[in-house]
Amino acid sequence: AIEIAKLRGTTGAVTLDSGYGNTGSCKSEITFIDGEKGILRYRGYSIEELAEKVSFEEVAYLVIWGELPNQEQLAEFQAKLAKYAIVDEGVKTILSGFPRSAHPMAMLGAVMAAFGSYYETTGDSEEDILRIIAGMNSLAAYIYRYRRGLPYVYPASGLSYAGQFLHQMWGEPTGEPKVNSVVEQALNKLLILHADHEQNCSASTVRMVGSAHASLYASISAGVGALSGPLHGGANQAVLEMLEEIQNDGGDFEKYVGLAKDKESGFRLMGFGHRVYKNFDPRAKILKSACDDVLEDLGVDDPLLDIAKKLEKVALEDEFFVKRKLYPNVDFYSGIIYRALNIPTEMFTVMFALGRVPGWIAQWHEMRNDPTGRIHRPRQIYTGATERSVQPIEER
Ligand code: ACO
Repeated sequence: AIEIAKLRGTTGAVTLDSGYGNTGSCKSEITFIDGEKGILRYRGYSIEELAEKVSFEEVAYLVIWGELPNQEQLAEFQAKLAKYAIVDEGVKTILSGFPRSAHPMAMLGAVMAAFGSYYETTGDSEEDILRIIAGMNSLAAYIYRYRRGLPYVYPASGLSYAGQFLHQMWGEPTGEPKVNSVVEQALNKLLILHADHEQNCSASTVRMVGSAHASLYASISAGVGALSGPLHGGANQAVLEMLEEIQNDGGDFEKYVGLAKDKESGFRLMGFGHRVYKNFDPRAKILKSACDDVLEDLGVDDPLLDIAKKLEKVALEDEFFVKRKLYPNVDFYSGIIYRALNIPTEMFTVMFALGRVPGWIAQWHEMRNDPTGRIHRPRQIYTGATERSVQPIEER
């Protein structure tokens, strides 16, 4: 690989690797995954320990700047997040141009692309990084409230990142913020689990767009677009819709496992399978037990959790899934928790984006600070027509 790297710029052999299954696009110090063993670490810390011990703000800081903050750094970071949570009023006019039925991810992508135009920054400064992390929180809540025809709730001081989101979603426009701590802690955990996942489709998109030195806003907006697909982040919405469909179909989960095994059906078990994990997705493991705790703490009895567990059991015992090493991924259980937290299904992928934004920024930051970095420009194997000449229109 080093020898090939030395030949940069030459027109040698071109490798073809569909879906980049074995192609490394960069070197990275951010996230480690061992897909065979089911290990995920951010900057060397296990996902299990981070989900247990720290806040999402600490994880965002860690992922982007490489170390967990000390108390002073964390306080400074939180103060900046609170400052930049107040977004330019003009952004709301973009939202008001959307039909209320618009998908929240379409709205988020569009608003994010335009967001930077409201500020006189370079588009790739530390202020832009902070504005995007903090602003995404407010924008996500505004999108929800706009679609419901509700007045916007402004950010309040002294709240955690998760708390700020909950306050802007459901708080009173005036008065002291009241945030349910069980909901806040559950959301904190969900956000941490989504913070980064190395060179996935949306992170690679962010790097790709950013490699052209497009602004951070343009790069993140492109990442939002990639995440919206049902094979990627959009799977969390699709999982819940699938579980509801199974429930409405009398709970016949075996029928759906059968459908997923039939390639002709075009149906896949949403929330199952992963390009890298050939073992349990460690995030799904954490979420499965978190589901039980959160539902119990909130006094929610959700039959969809039973359907999900039964579906998982049947699939994991089925030879089709065993042979292909298809296990539940992060999206399989996250929707049940979002539902218990009262977040509507069509907002699930926005919640994923909210968690993933530090990862996108970290990937972009690492790329832009790599002295050997250059514009991403894959090659292809051309399979089209050989040279031919244009026939006059009357002869075609
Ligand atoms: N249900 C049924 N069969 C599946 C599933 C599934 N969910 N996932 C993969 N397979 C089968 C494929 O048909 C294929 O079978 P074959 O080898 O006989 O042709 C084999 O398993 C490998 O599948 P690929 O599509 O080649 O795997 P790839 O790595 O390209 O795709 C992906 C991974 C997109 C996640 C896939 O497993 C999938 O579509 N899952 C459902 C959607 C989903 O949950 N996405 C969320 C992923 S996690 C995330 O983005 C946060």
